Amino acid sequence: MNLPKRVEIIESGPRDGIQNEKIFIPTEMKIKLINALGETGVKRMEATSFVSPKHVPQMSDADTVYRNIEKREDVQYMALIPNKKGFDLARKSGVTSLALVVGASQTFNMKNVRMSIEESLQQLRSVVEKAKDLNYFVRFHISTAFCCPYEGLVEEAETLRIVRTLETYGVDEIVLCDTIGRANPRQVHELFCRVFDSTPIAKITAHFHDTYGFSKANALAALQAGVSSFDTAIGGLGGCPFAPGAAGNDSTEDFVYMLHEMGIETGIDFDKLMNCVNLVKEMTERKLTGHIQQLTQFQQSSIK
Ligand code: COA
Ligand code: ZN
Repeated sequence: MNLPKRVEIIESGPRDGIQNEKIFIPTEMKIKLINALGETGVKRMEATSFVSPKHVPQMSDADTVYRNIEKREDVQYMALIPNKKGFDLARKSGVTSLALVVGASQTFNMKNVRMSIEESLQQLRSVVEKAKDLNYFVRFHISTAFCCPYEGLVEEAETLRIVRTLETYGVDEIVLCDTIGRANPRQVHELFCRVFDSTPIAKITAHFHDTYGFSKANALAALQAGVSSFDTAIGGLGGCPFAPGAAGNDSTEDFVYMLHEMGIETGIDFDKLMNCVNLVKEMTERKLTGHIQQLTQFQQSSIK
């Protein structure tokens, strides 16, 4: 099997994971979770997003969250921004690692950020320029890179066109997101292979949701295509307010468990990760979907 020795996990729970939670999670709990995640060995995470508080009330405390989290030197704390206003706000809060976003489907992008794809690209291009002048790290999510909740299948050529455009902007990382968890492993393998065929300069990361139960199969297909960094969310939380029906992200603890069983390093302490799952259980009344957290401690121990 074509597999990397090590995989990088980018924890998205504090952002993608909770953005769609209906009941407002107290700011202190968000901070506590982010600080606990920082203890696990996770080196990168999306801590919050600077988006419209009217459209996404759960993220309305972005400034307070970002300012008050413990900023470990060995951990990168990113914030998602959809537009120039988000950039200005994030910058004021002291954010230096950005996650920008554009959809590969016109309808989704319009509903998500109220701009056409071209308007988003144009506006965010100047954000990337400013951010690079300031020496910030810039990742770029391509949402609905495989499928759209409104338009169905997204043409591979369209996603590849956006990848190539973002490459010319000089972004540090491009994240191909299966926002609605509708992609299949064959499609995933083919798209990532096509992306790697063009020898990208940016780091290429995969981001899966588990709506149809395909997220692990998709992750394996991505691994086989050469992807070695993945966005996941603690507790399998997640969903997008503008992608109806989307279930949670691939759960961090389940994916890390699987990778460790396969002999692939992540640098993450599994027990500390499970402590974070317990914090998630205190934060939400939602029944978590992850498999490992439903097992007894005896079942959770590695068979190796
Ligand atoms: N953060 C906070 N407030 C913002 C903002 C941002 N990034 N961008 C705009 N606003 C404010 C404006 O200042 C304005 O405030 P006012 O009413 O007090 O004057 C108000 O929002 C409307 O501004 P406008 O530019 O018309 O925004 P909009 O209503 O068209 O919404 C977005 C555009 C991009 C802000 C909104 O669609 C959004 O936040 N999308 C993000 C969705 C998301 O988080 N999806 C999941 C992650 S991919
Ligand atoms: Zn997502």
